[in-house]
Amino acid sequence: MPSDHIANCVGRYLGRMANQTDLSPELLGYLREVSLRDDPILYELREETAALPAGAAMQVSAEEGQLLALLVGLTGARTVLELGTFTGYSTLCMARALPSDGRLVTCDITDRWPAIGAGYWRRAAVADQIDVRVGPASATLAALRAENGPSSFDLAFIDADKTNYRAYYEGCLDLVRPGGLIVIDNTLFFGRVLDADARDPDTCAIRELNAFLLTDTRVDLSVLPVADGVTLARIRAGGH
Ligand SMILES: C[S@@+](CC[C@H](N)C(=O)[O-])C[C@H]1O[C@@H](n2cnc3c(N)ncnc32)[C@H](O)[C@@H]1O
Repeated sequence: MPSDHIANCVGRYLGRMANQTDLSPELLGYLREVSLRDDPILYELREETAALPAGAAMQVSAEEGQLLALLVGLTGARTVLELGTFTGYSTLCMARALPSDGRLVTCDITDRWPAIGAGYWRRAAVADQIDVRVGPASATLAALRAENGPSSFDLAFIDADKTNYRAYYEGCLDLVRPGGLIVIDNTLFFGRVLDADARDPDTCAIRELNAFLLTDTRVDLSVLPVADGVTLARIRAGGH
């Protein structure tokens, strides 16, 4: 099909009323009521994190954490890579979804935040499966490539500094096996992607990554309007 015909079809679709339900605070409350499966370890880590400056905004939401756990289970992942640990909530959700011989490598620029998560990981009996790397995510990606070679992870979750997202995506594309999944957080970036006046480096980096991903034939793609936007990129066979 000619590409201008496809562009016209997409253009007509974009102009239509969206068949997407607006998520009011009340509806989000209902969604949580009917879907969240909480427990004291998750709850207490969320509470401790929420008491930190910007803690709640940094941490994935409870429903996103539950989605990440589901994705780990769905993909049958045994090896998971996370960029951006913070206090380890997403780490905890994903690690608990791994099989007993599964392994999760997570990295953060500082050890201050992962140290908070460590106690909760121990309580959840997954601490032994979690390997924390402290330092820039770019250095961790290079080290993991040297240690394990390409295609050594089943799933990667990108949730660190936004300006390097494109580089992290390329690094993960190399480290995750064909058929594996790259999950990228904050791809709607608080709605700022739509604001033409928003020209800060973080918003620009997210916009550019989103535009690039649409054309990247190495992956199958879906952007979920969950939390702050969660992009799923599944690496196609031969997608490296
Ligand atoms: C949004 S938070 C991650 C939240 C975490 N996934 C969770 O659910 O709790 C981003 C984290 O990335 C870390 N970070 C920032 N720049 C980084 C870099 N260059 N390399 C690695 N981590 C970085 C920050 O210290 C912060 O803890």
